[in-house]
Amino acid sequence: MPYPYVLLSAAVSLDGYLDDTTSERLLLSSPADFDRVDEVRASVDAILIGAGTIRADNPRLLVNSADRRHARVAAGKAEYPLKVTVSGSGDLDPAANFWHTGGDKVVYTTDKGARRADALGIAAEVVPLGPDLNWRRLLEHLHDERGVRRLMVEGGGTIHTQLLQQGLADEVQLVLAPLLVGDPDAPRLFGPGAYQGGRLRLTETRRIEDVVLMRYEPTAPGTGPLPSAADRHWLALACELAAACPPSATAFSVGAVIVAADGTELARGHSREAGDPVVHAEEAALAKLDPADPRLATATVYSSLEPCARRASRPKPCARLILDAGVRRVVTAWQEPDTFVTAADGNGLLTAEGVDVVVLPEYAERARVPNLHLTG
Ligand SMILES: NC(=O)c1ccc[n+]([C@@H]2O[C@H](COP(=O)([O-])OP(=O)(O)OC[C@H]3O[C@@H](n4cnc5c(N)ncnc54)[C@H](OP(=O)(O)O)[C@@H]3O)[C@@H](O)[C@H]2O)c1
Repeated sequence: MPYPYVLLSAAVSLDGYLDDTTSERLLLSSPADFDRVDEVRASVDAILIGAGTIRADNPRLLVNSADRRHARVAAGKAEYPLKVTVSGSGDLDPAANFWHTGGDKVVYTTDKGARRADALGIAAEVVPLGPDLNWRRLLEHLHDERGVRRLMVEGGGTIHTQLLQQGLADEVQLVLAPLLVGDPDAPRLFGPGAYQGGRLRLTETRRIEDVVLMRYEPTAPGTGPLPSAADRHWLALACELAAACPPSATAFSVGAVIVAADGTELARGHSREAGDPVVHAEEAALAKLDPADPRLATATVYSSLEPCARRASRPKPCARLILDAGVRRVVTAWQEPDTFVTAADGNGLLTAEGVDVVVLPEYAERARVPNLHLTG
């Protein structure tokens, strides 16, 4: 199921704290950075914070600029983004600013928490997600029921930690403030636990008065059948590579990327690469790697089109090449139409041999566009 694009936003001290332990909220950003945050808020469909941040900071979570609110309305959007919070207990203060400012509000909670929130008379839609709170179900609900395509998450640390650890954050926008907290009881941005191995991708750094904004994207593929945010980024790259193929009247244009478990790109390829008129994208990418590379066993192959199951131009179809390489996970966008081969089922072949095949149909259109001359 598609999820919203999830953007984590936070400011931290030089020693990695989100706040101190006093009852006053610690101001980490500079005025110009608060204005940048306001601009990001104005650009999203919804803003989410945890119940802990409502209790600690009693925030309003508004778009403060009237010009930005007018621009939202002129663009046909609600004046304010939807405000979302998450609480397992449902133990929320009905008088908190969160409920009484801005536009629509939603509380995601457990069955038990929903009974508590309803009894407290919380002025918001209360959505129980079962005995436990499941982030994927929450994101699906926001996407499907509330039309949220971009979600900004403004903390606190408990929320950021779970979304990053579960591979659900598309981007981290981190502001580093030039002050130190030094109190081990203060809340940290990211808590202990299992994160992706390897490195995130740094996509931007920007000085804003005396703070620095850093933007990162996760790179590690998901595991098993569950897609991660990084899976979507790599599949988007495969679709871009498809668009770079020399066109052909007798074969599809396809892009492929092979990515190690720690998010390192191992190889990429596209159809008819390097003047070879029949080479396929996955074949071209695999040919760049040593077949004995131990990283292949835990790698993911991203292909804009389902790997082929039958072909006339070479002895082995791409699904077989992937199996022979020992790859156990494939992410793809578009299932092969009957244009050249009837009922090709590369995904079925891979699945039958125990490979986890993840299909993200929301990318199928991007994969199809470079092939419109073939499919109409
Ligand atoms: N510097 C910054 O950019 C920034 C931004 C935001 C917040 N902060 C600071 O961060 C601190 C608050 O952080 P925090 O980690 O304590 O709180 P938090 O992340 O805001 O919220 C944690 C609460 O969310 C609910 N929750 C989270 N995950 C859940 C799950 N999987 N299932 C059920 N419920 C779940 C629980 O609510 P219940 O307890 O109701 O069950 C939990 O106590 C404050 O000091 C605040 O000032 C700083």
